[in-house]
Amino acid sequence: MAKLLVIHGPNLHRLGQREADYYGTETIDDLNAKIQAWSVRMKIPVDVYQSNHEGDIVERIGLAAGTYNAIVINPAAYTHTSVAIRDAISATRVPVIEVHLSNIHGREEFRRVSLTAPVCRGQICGFGHASYLLGLDAARAFITRQKKA
Ligand code: DQA
Repeated sequence: MAKLLVIHGPNLHRLGQREADYYGTETIDDLNAKIQAWSVRMKIPVDVYQSNHEGDIVERIGLAAGTYNAIVINPAAYTHTSVAIRDAISATRVPVIEVHLSNIHGREEFRRVSLTAPVCRGQICGFGHASYLLGLDAARAFITRQKKA
């Protein structure tokens, strides 16, 4: 049976308390509840993991093969800095989809560069919590295509 993993990067545990103009007033629990509702609706189990630590995220990606059919990741600030997370994504055979709450291409110069997106299947950004649900839809479409192949 297909199974998906959602990874929230650093500071996303503080959603609702940080920069509401960019990230809204809802908490990570609200976001995770929407992810679980998607999971129930689609009948696809989804595990959710949040970490503020680069190495933990690297390890989690490295352990995903054999358990998960796709990963939806918001690497948060590591998007713009982490060669280690980029290499972990490159090294896994699990398809990875990058998501962001805000439109990183319309913000500061340094946020417009994603080190991780080029090694992901694609990037979805700018739609708030819906970015994650669109990312899950993309993952589901990917799994369905793989099954048919
Ligand atoms: C973010 C965008 C990043 O630039 C920022 O560091 C975050 C959140 C987003 O979801 O919009 O922490 O990934």
